[in-house]
Amino acid sequence: MTTQCVRVPLGKRSYPVWIGAGLLKRAGTLFKQAGLKGEAAVITAGKAGRLYLPMLGRSLKTAGFPVTVVPIPDGEKGKSLGVAAQVWSTLLKKGLDRSATLVALGGGAVGDLAGFVASTYMRGIRLVHCPTTLLACVDSAIGGKTGVNLPEGKNLVGTFYQPALVIEDVSTLKSLSPRQVSAGLAEVIKYGVIRDAALFAYLERRVADLRGMKEDAMTHAIAQCVRIKADVVSRDERESNLRAILNYGHTIGHALEASGQYRTLTHGEAVSLGMMCAARLALWKGAIKPFFVARQEALLRKAGLPTRMRRVPVARVLEHLVYDKKRSGGRQRFVIPTRLGKVVVADGYTTPLIRRALAELKWP
Ligand SMILES: NC(=O)c1ccc[n+]([C@@H]2O[C@H](COP(=O)([O-])OP(=O)(O)OC[C@H]3O[C@@H](n4cnc5c(N)ncnc54)[C@H](O)[C@@H]3O)[C@@H](O)[C@H]2O)c1
Ligand SMILES: [Zn+2]
Repeated sequence: MTTQCVRVPLGKRSYPVWIGAGLLKRAGTLFKQAGLKGEAAVITAGKAGRLYLPMLGRSLKTAGFPVTVVPIPDGEKGKSLGVAAQVWSTLLKKGLDRSATLVALGGGAVGDLAGFVASTYMRGIRLVHCPTTLLACVDSAIGGKTGVNLPEGKNLVGTFYQPALVIEDVSTLKSLSPRQVSAGLAEVIKYGVIRDAALFAYLERRVADLRGMKEDAMTHAIAQCVRIKADVVSRDERESNLRAILNYGHTIGHALEASGQYRTLTHGEAVSLGMMCAARLALWKGAIKPFFVARQEALLRKAGLPTRMRRVPVARVLEHLVYDKKRSGGRQRFVIPTRLGKVVVADGYTTPLIRRALAELKWP
């Protein structure tokens, strides 16, 4: 079984992202290879902790790393300042100093909280991400954004903090629900549309294998996404706003997600619907042909994602878009495709046009 290693550039340095099956069993060796030493404090939650902590812990101990476990509440409940403060105290009580490494084992929520704690505890200690959801593998574990939620909203406090190492064991994804896998595939398809026509074509061929958790297909698809995100994020310093292209499908997606109070749609499902709207906006400006929209829709559907809704909350979505626009300095910008593998950031989309794109989501 092939394992891939993608290096994420960070100025003159870089860090490795390992992607493959059964990698948690080799975590101790990968830690040593990355030059890590000292105590490992593993932050984990929920099912990921129950299923995969024993394997990770054993591998680290065998390689000579003392292991401390810090469980946190599962999901968004774990992403709070209160939980961060509890983890800071636990690390202090256990006597962990600046030589320790914080390890995040879990989905994006665990990764965001652990990253935030690692960047602040004693002004920053080393961090290793072991993402266990598809979304975390292709998105949150790469790029260095950390964060916690406030009562006022999600991800309102956070830092930029890069890990020393990322270990993506695709075998852990087998315990995800089909709905979680599909939600992650929305982000994977997004990478194809924005930057990689070959990845898009690969997904068209292998989407059933991906939903069936074929490890070779998962490893290949995830590695491509990691390469794209790493490339975009590392160039962003020079080409300002390049990072914005990662938001393809997210402007309307976020508004749809928020309109259902984050309960009716998963993030990936909302992004799928958002990508359909963005593609239609591009079509109506003459940027792409109808075939593009049909091809994207067919792949999203094959990935188990919605491309239509029974009831579109048009008024609430438009309200959220207005709120979003205010927050981002008064301009409503959309990432729109110009061909497969290429997108541009454009503004000037009027409310009637956006309304029409939302109306098109409705089942006929
Ligand atoms: N930092 C970034 O750049 C970035 C980017 C995108 C999203 N995010 C954040 O990521 C979070 C969403 O991440 P997520 O979708 O992974 O959700 P999550 O971390 O809340 O995990 C979802 C659920 O899956 C469970 N789980 C995790 N791994 C599992 C496995 N292998 N098998 C079975 N169950 C498993 C978790 O315990 C949890 O109940 C959000 O908080 C979002 O803000 C951050
Ligand atoms: Zn997303």
